[in-house]
Amino acid sequence: MKQQRVLLIIGGGIAAYKCLDLIRRLRDEGASVRAVMTRAASEFVTPLSVAALTNERVFTNLFDLNDEHEIGHIRLSREADIVIVAPATADFLAKMAGGHADDLASTILMATDKPVLAAPAMNPRMWLHRATQRNVALLKADGIHFVGPNTGEMAERDEAGPGRLAEVPEIMAAARAILSEGAAGSVTRLRSSRPLAGRHVLVTSGPTHEPIDPVRYIANRSSGRQGHAIAAAAARLGARVTLVSGPVALADPPGASVVHLETAQEMLDAVERSLPADVAVFAAAVADWRTARQPGDKMKKTGEKHALELVENPDILATIGKSREARPALVIGFAAETRDVVGYASKKRKAKGADWIVANDVSAKTGVFGGAANTVHLVTAEGVDDWPTMAKEDMAERLMLRAAEFLRRSTAAAE
Ligand code: CTP
Repeated sequence: MKQQRVLLIIGGGIAAYKCLDLIRRLRDEGASVRAVMTRAASEFVTPLSVAALTNERVFTNLFDLNDEHEIGHIRLSREADIVIVAPATADFLAKMAGGHADDLASTILMATDKPVLAAPAMNPRMWLHRATQRNVALLKADGIHFVGPNTGEMAERDEAGPGRLAEVPEIMAAARAILSEGAAGSVTRLRSSRPLAGRHVLVTSGPTHEPIDPVRYIANRSSGRQGHAIAAAAARLGARVTLVSGPVALADPPGASVVHLETAQEMLDAVERSLPADVAVFAAAVADWRTARQPGDKMKKTGEKHALELVENPDILATIGKSREARPALVIGFAAETRDVVGYASKKRKAKGADWIVANDVSAKTGVFGGAANTVHLVTAEGVDDWPTMAKEDMAERLMLRAAEFLRRSTAAAE
């Protein structure tokens, strides 16, 4: 365990006192230990004794602003090689399985990209309860490692069965095995299969509908397939995803939280409400104009000519791309062009304050609109990448992998 950095999350159970021994043994073996205690944990062991043994300050509450300034929960979870949860109580396992993030300990687990080892400890009936078993199965499927619980006498009298915290040497052995697997590459694989874990990706998709009167609207032919595929890919790669979508005939992508709306103005409002985000992808085909007036009643034929007065809609990409407040680290726009695709896209990148523009050739011959495939050129400050024609899903995954790499590099450069 030499030079390994352990982040120990201490849960609230009678077995919490065994963590003191775990910390001592980990440090004896050359590991450094940083501890986070849940509120309930401090009922069983004092933060003072944990701090004395770790020789570090103990982190106890998400809303301790000093901690947030000095060392945010994201950094806490990143500056570790392994996260150990011990004792993992029934309640804490339920929180982990449900993806809750309402205190520092659970937030770290949502934000981490490091291997997590849980050492459960609880009353045997609670361990055997269907809810706990269901949560453990979910967590295992998510790649969480488990050690124990052991079977034996419980702290309560006359209670015996599975639920005892694994012994300290067993927890150490499990941690060692995970870390050496990591050195052999499997943790790297685990990590790289969810390279957007802990990131928030915001995506706009679909057309917008701009009302003419209560029954008619102006729209365009966007199907939303590309934007929805990007949201789905980002969720698969581990991101928290907010998809802001105009009216489409597509199902909500799994794992994304979806805001359904109609007009460009509503889309801008929803985007601003959803910030901050690490990445924002503007794939929506926003209507450039809306009607200057929307009568409350249906318009009637008069036999006369009728002109609609149109006013320009806000440009959502440009608003966010050029904003100084809460601008995502990576702003990606699309450009649909029928000629001089790269030339127009490069101009659009600068004019709208985007970092990248995905330039799309939508001339009739390509069948991109509503079709399943896409031929794009990725225009960045560094130059232009011509991507081969590929399915919209593949292009979505490639774009999100590239975004993950961009974020990884900028985080590394900032540290
Ligand atoms: N976009 C936006 N809000 C608008 C218009 C466009 O967010 N009101 C975004 C689109 O989601 C896309 C990018 O801007 O990411 C490019 O849109 P496009 O319609 O190709 O460009 P325009 O700015 O409308 O320019 P033009 O029609 O002259 O090509």
